Amino acid sequence: MYDQEIKKRRTFAIISHPDAGKTTLTEKFLLYGGAINLAGSVKGKATARHAVSDWMEIEKERGISVTSSVLQFHYDDFCINILDTPGHQDFSEDTYRTLMAADSAVMVIDASKGVEAQTRKLFKVCGMRHIPVFTFINKLDRDANDTFELLDEIEKELGIATCPINWPIGSGKRFKGVYDRQKREVITYSDTEKGTKEGHSEQIPFDDDEALLAHIGEEAMTTLKDEIELLDGASAGFDLDAVQKGELSPVFFGSALTNFGVEIFLHYFLQMTMEPFGRMSDQGLIDPLQNDFSAFVFKIQANMNKAHRDRIAFMRICSGKFTSGMEVRHMQQDKVIRLSQPQQMMASERHIVEEAYAGDIIGVFDPGIFSIGDTICMPADHFAYEGIPTFAPEHFARVRQMDTMKRKQFVKGITQIAQEGAIQIFQEFNTGMEEIIVGVVGVLQFEVLKYRLENEYNVDIKLENLPFEHIRWIENKDSVDVEKIVGTSDMKRIKDMKGNPLLLFVNSWSVGMVLERNEGLQLSEFGRNT
Ligand code: G4P
Repeated sequence: MYDQEIKKRRTFAIISHPDAGKTTLTEKFLLYGGAINLAGSVKGKATARHAVSDWMEIEKERGISVTSSVLQFHYDDFCINILDTPGHQDFSEDTYRTLMAADSAVMVIDASKGVEAQTRKLFKVCGMRHIPVFTFINKLDRDANDTFELLDEIEKELGIATCPINWPIGSGKRFKGVYDRQKREVITYSDTEKGTKEGHSEQIPFDDDEALLAHIGEEAMTTLKDEIELLDGASAGFDLDAVQKGELSPVFFGSALTNFGVEIFLHYFLQMTMEPFGRMSDQGLIDPLQNDFSAFVFKIQANMNKAHRDRIAFMRICSGKFTSGMEVRHMQQDKVIRLSQPQQMMASERHIVEEAYAGDIIGVFDPGIFSIGDTICMPADHFAYEGIPTFAPEHFARVRQMDTMKRKQFVKGITQIAQEGAIQIFQEFNTGMEEIIVGVVGVLQFEVLKYRLENEYNVDIKLENLPFEHIRWIENKDSVDVEKIVGTSDMKRIKDMKGNPLLLFVNSWSVGMVLERNEGLQLSEFGRNT
């Protein structure tokens, strides 16, 4: 049986604001897994990325990753899948969707910056799914904010309780290491050369004052003892159950760049995180171990190879074992198909996989049949996983087509691109397809849209930015007369391609105002894919 294979899988995503150190931390993880020889060779920003990734011209031109991939490595008998999310400022809806395929998340926070905008947005999606979130507070080798304040900020801003698993001793030039609260010992800081494994650290019992004095000095020792006394008195104890429900975030401190605290993190993380868990379908919970192969599509990537104009559908395997060439049922089209060219992504390089298990991600060639949220299962099975919600775009533009003769190509192109999930398209509430409004999560997607319409559909467009930043789905649309909603001056009514009504706002306070003015109105930041 393959139960053991599934039980050793750990599938997580790393979330952070750009520059907090997500890439550096990922590189160090891979280093421990032996997946690479030298940290920095995974995607040492601009140059290396250019070499391995020819997925899109924009990606090359801008030297950033528009797409996301999966990195798999083995460590300590675990098989770890890191779902890589676009880390640039201009992240897209794919970043959110990737979180739907993860079983847990690692949140990287810059110790001198605290909780930043993008972390907040990504955390919201984790919160919606109640997945465990582990916090790695990074860059302790630089001057950091007060530790208690950092924890307070996480609790207040994100609304999750925290439990420090270790505690930093100083920061910047006076960074001396971390205190491990479970083992009650101090692990001294060792600044290592870039690219090597963790350097030599001393492990000193917390009560061995003499040794502590010798290694970290009197000032650091006194501060540490005071802080730990305060911490032990004030904070709630560790509760694994609360961690696994996403109610308590274990917090770790370190420096990804100098490779300190990374292995300590990995060790505890692997103990606390879970093997792939059951997912809800319309036929009830599907168990990863008890059920045969099943998966759902969480991302569709078009034109990864320009020469072939292919599309890849990324699937998260939720149960059982996948074998290359097996016949499966595509639930949404109710067809039995053979998945061709299953692939796994490794640092942006593809290779064919023969078998994969619950917890793994595979990319399969998509002749245009898959949509985001589709379920794949065994031919004898008939169930569909809960769909993936639509995430609120934050940038909107009106699209104007330059050559009106090409109306058909334009509509076809923009509809297909929207189906892949790169953009969302809307219409004026009262008119038809003449006017199209595009909504995106990251502004880069506007460029992607323009580029793809020109290159793939031979259609030139002009985008006229709109001032809206907030969109809300009407949850109780069947009991609300949209025309009669008492709005604010900055509110606009639109509808999606399925006719669902939505509201656009320029200011966030208007959302509250409209709720206040219309009793019973229910608004949501996540749209259902129906
Ligand atoms: P991201 O993926 O979250 O965007 O962040 P990334 O790892 O690329 O790190 C952003 C910058 O922060 C990089 O510097 C990186 O070297 C630095 N960094 C990451 N972790 C640490 C840390 O623990 N301590 C310190 N001091 N710096 C850290 P850069 O100069 O912008 O890029 P590069 O030229 O070094 O690649």
